[in-house]
Amino acid sequence: MRETAATLSPAETQSLKQAAAAHAATLVVAGMAVGLGHGSTAVAVVPALAERFRRGELTGTVFVPAAHFMAEALRRHGLPVGSLDDWPVLDLGIDGADEIDGNLDCIKGGGGALLYEKIVAQAARRFVLVADAGKLSPRLGTRHAVPVEVTPAALAPVTGFITEIGGNPALRLRPDGDPMRTERGNVILDCAFGPLADPAALAAVLDARAGIAGHGLFIGMASLACVAGPDGVRELTRPVNETIAG
Ligand code: A5P
Repeated sequence: MRETAATLSPAETQSLKQAAAAHAATLVVAGMAVGLGHGSTAVAVVPALAERFRRGELTGTVFVPAAHFMAEALRRHGLPVGSLDDWPVLDLGIDGADEIDGNLDCIKGGGGALLYEKIVAQAARRFVLVADAGKLSPRLGTRHAVPVEVTPAALAPVTGFITEIGGNPALRLRPDGDPMRTERGNVILDCAFGPLADPAALAAVLDARAGIAGHGLFIGMASLACVAGPDGVRELTRPVNETIAG
């Protein structure tokens, strides 16, 4: 796969996000309950959905957002918004990612909505990633730390635990220097582990630790990724039949 983050300018990346988002919007059909995540690429799906909704192609479709930001975007575009209380099983989930490997495992949470994003993704029968080609990675952890959402009371012990298991945790801060809080009131440790030999094993270790409310490793969840590169949008399935360049 020749498109890498290093070869894409910010303007190219933005237009690739739009292209991937427009493609992902075509996967939605009338009557579906659709989960939507957070982040610029997922939000870019909304105008394309709204256009199809206006054309009458999505009658009976309801959208379940993983974050307030997405809920606002959906309402602004006049799309029906539902919740997991009413739609505990979704037909489709669409979301962006920070780093995607050849198994379509990914790191998410750069925008801070990781716990709810994972709840929505797991509620979906089919989970689809939408991204520019700069998100593709030969190995998770190469480009991004793993965001870990922590109950504030557990911050000190979990920070120590992350260090013990080989990570380098950094508390995510707001521009004013205070700890960033998630919509659930938790804090986030961005945990640099370097390239991960076994992301599923790390995910299991994080899942088992009390005080960790969620983490950004999404393992075995996506079955499809709509990835836009200079040559157009491709649908990648798991495992991706190509070597992803570093
Ligand atoms: C939000 O918490 C994240 O999981 C995003 O989905 C991820 O950071 C991708 O964001 P962009 O689409 O803005 O790159």
